[in-house]
Amino acid sequence: MSVTYTFPKGFWWGSATSAAQIEGASNVGGKGKSIWDHWYEQEPYRFYGNVGPTTASDFYHRYKEDIRLMKAVGHNSFRMSLAWSRLIPEGRGKVNREAVDFYDRVIDELLSHDIEPFITLFHFDLPMAMQYEGGWESRRVVDAYVEYANVCFKLFGDRVKKWFTFNEPIVPVEGGYLYDFHYPNVVDGRRAIQVAYHTIIAHARAVEVFRSLAIEDGKIGIILNLTPSYPRSQHPADVKASKIADLFFNRSFLDPAVLGEFPPELIDLLNEHGHVPVTQKGDAETVQKNKVDILGVNYYQPRRVKAKEHVPHPDSPFMPEWFFDHYEMPGRKMNPYRGWEIYEKGLYDIMLNLRDNYGNVESFVSENGMGVQNEERYLKDGQIQDDYRIEFFREHLKWLHKAIQEGCNVKGYHVWTFMDNWSWMNAYKNRYGLVYVDLETQKRTPKKSAEWMRAVSEQNGF
Ligand code: BG6
Repeated sequence: MSVTYTFPKGFWWGSATSAAQIEGASNVGGKGKSIWDHWYEQEPYRFYGNVGPTTASDFYHRYKEDIRLMKAVGHNSFRMSLAWSRLIPEGRGKVNREAVDFYDRVIDELLSHDIEPFITLFHFDLPMAMQYEGGWESRRVVDAYVEYANVCFKLFGDRVKKWFTFNEPIVPVEGGYLYDFHYPNVVDGRRAIQVAYHTIIAHARAVEVFRSLAIEDGKIGIILNLTPSYPRSQHPADVKASKIADLFFNRSFLDPAVLGEFPPELIDLLNEHGHVPVTQKGDAETVQKNKVDILGVNYYQPRRVKAKEHVPHPDSPFMPEWFFDHYEMPGRKMNPYRGWEIYEKGLYDIMLNLRDNYGNVESFVSENGMGVQNEERYLKDGQIQDDYRIEFFREHLKWLHKAIQEGCNVKGYHVWTFMDNWSWMNAYKNRYGLVYVDLETQKRTPKKSAEWMRAVSEQNGF
């Protein structure tokens, strides 16, 4: 088969997952409770089909089989997260030996299959003990996170060389403090700003600790879900609205992580409205000194924005939406199941922005994928025929290839996700995996897209 789109030598092909979404065993092996275990106990009806994280895809018990399959579908790298509440059940203090053994075995198993582990320290699953202390609103929780990071670097840094402090740190801010889809379900713009600020400080301090340990060949970064912000028109009011959306949802984390400074326009805006977070002396220097080595880009959808039609009442709660309205562009291509727009060129636009405005930081696509409901209907001859997903990957990869041709410093492409997994409030509603998981039996069956991805990684292109 001839290859039209060839990627740079050594390109990382693989997938991403997170602990709470695949491990299951939520009350096994000495694990403490995370906010998800707690929330599910409190309000199971808020989760699709009343399904919680208790069993997920049972990676905790089936990791050997899963890693064998990863190899079979051509992975040379794989991103997973560590569960803070498994390693340090109370959030701070005693380290759980059983958890260390588990992660040691997983890392060793990956390496023995020549699959490079990429580790995320935090993927949405705060230990409940830390939430009781105030969650990310508390500076003490920041300290506990930095200590957790230190423990992980020391335990696994001899073998793990790619580390990521946070996955999509804006999402717990949005879900937990603005739009009610993560615990603790607060809706309060002011508190959201404090949470975001503390997350950035936690990130920078973890980077600082990492550097102090001088882990051989180690690189550290962050994973951001970047949503390129497109205005409805070139009218200045629409353009201004899209710039503000970009400030809140992209640049709030991207600028401090990559450039080492908060966007001045964001600071001005927050000052103007009296919503600056509480800071501590030395924070700005910490952020300045601890820029990332590498940036993971999760890309699912763009953000389309128009100027505000009605000025919000000054007494209404402060929200990012004070400054823009969402815009449903006529004719846009949608994933009808997840309700997200599919706009492949967005990936190219992100990469060019990183090239031109962020020092061409080393990056990779750390998540890109398509969630589909009731996927069993595409079952034929014992396999899910997910041609739509192949097309989704292919079209995004074409734009990524073009970005690389034009000088973008992109090192890999990880799909979301390896196998169907449990997903927060949506549980198993939308399936994203290359591998189908039968939830009754936990049997794994590669989908057609897994075969396609295997060929892509084998040929380093398509
Ligand atoms: C990303 C997250 O935002 O999107 C994943 O890092 C998540 O944890 C994925 O599962 C897909 O989103 P959803 O809500 O459709 O599962």
